[in-house]
Amino acid sequence: MAGVSESPFRRLCRRFGAGVVVTEFLSAEGIRRENEATLAKLRFGSDERPIGVQIFGSDPVAMGEAARLVTDVFQPEFIDINFGCPVKKVVKRNGGSGCLKDLDLVQTIIRSVSAGTHLPVTVKIRSGWNEEQRDPVAIALRCEDAGARALALHPRTRTQMYSGHAHWDEIAAVAQALEIPVIGNGDIKTPEDAVRMHRETGCDAIMIARGSFGQPWIFDQTRDLLDGRPKRPDPDVETRFAVAIEHAQMAADYEVDPRGAAIEFRKHLGWYVKGLPGSADLRRQLHAVNSLDEVAGIFESYLENRGAESREPEIESDLEAVAV
Ligand SMILES: Cc1cc2nc3c(=O)[nH]c(=O)nc-3n(C[C@H](O)[C@H](O)[C@H](O)COP(=O)(O)O)c2cc1C
Repeated sequence: MAGVSESPFRRLCRRFGAGVVVTEFLSAEGIRRENEATLAKLRFGSDERPIGVQIFGSDPVAMGEAARLVTDVFQPEFIDINFGCPVKKVVKRNGGSGCLKDLDLVQTIIRSVSAGTHLPVTVKIRSGWNEEQRDPVAIALRCEDAGARALALHPRTRTQMYSGHAHWDEIAAVAQALEIPVIGNGDIKTPEDAVRMHRETGCDAIMIARGSFGQPWIFDQTRDLLDGRPKRPDPDVETRFAVAIEHAQMAADYEVDPRGAAIEFRKHLGWYVKGLPGSADLRRQLHAVNSLDEVAGIFESYLENRGAESREPEIESDLEAVAV
């Protein structure tokens, strides 16, 4: 996920049980022109493997060249093509889900990328451009026919963006129609949702996106349930904070500009504390950090005050005892 699943978060997700991770979507033009910022996002550690590099673009030649460079220089386990991104800036140039308006183009891109790499080429699609063109099975079959080795479906159209709900029945239909592995995606908020998707759709794998924000342990918990074990409990607050601090440290080491790193990281901090008692105030403090060094202190004072709150009744009764 752009702006979220950077190297530090991917490493955490792998450690917490994600079977496979994928980079943020990266522009084929940026890769081909060796744009510094794009190449920086291609860096990953060995502890992230197996990893896919996701590329996007509407020019088949650029896509093929980008695949070649990524293969030669970065050697991920696979190359994934993004045909799902709904963002205006991207679809304006027919990238991402913009390609879904032209299935010949989709196939040409898959063939060109496959010609540029010996690695497996996978695709991520939406159900179509809009309601009129909604036909995930036809799109998926065209992808398979062009050589895609696995397909992830987010069953919304581009015009839906993130509204409404993901149509899991479309995942089931695509899984039924295709020979290649089908990865179901969309609206998994809990490990139980993942089990339900697996049962209802018969998909071969499950992709969790927003459900991992601030809770990378969702992967271990999901694996527990899928393997028929009781789900391990959510980590306690202290452990949550320790993971957030470790993530912040990795982000600080990863980014060159410390203040920029802190500002970028604020969203993760907000997600890590979501749902905690008094989290609105905590979030306000975390959303104001200008250095990741501030984070540990904010967590410490939250834990101390929380301790004081829970001790308050005792103190009061002590005072009462004195007064008596
Ligand atoms: C902030 C954000 C960034 C995303 N970036 C990407 C991306 O770079 N590549 C991609 O294939 N999907 C991207 N997605 C879409 C997700 O991968 C996923 O398809 C979608 O969020 C639905 O799954 P979910 O309900 O589990 O979040 C992004 C989603 C969000 C919210």
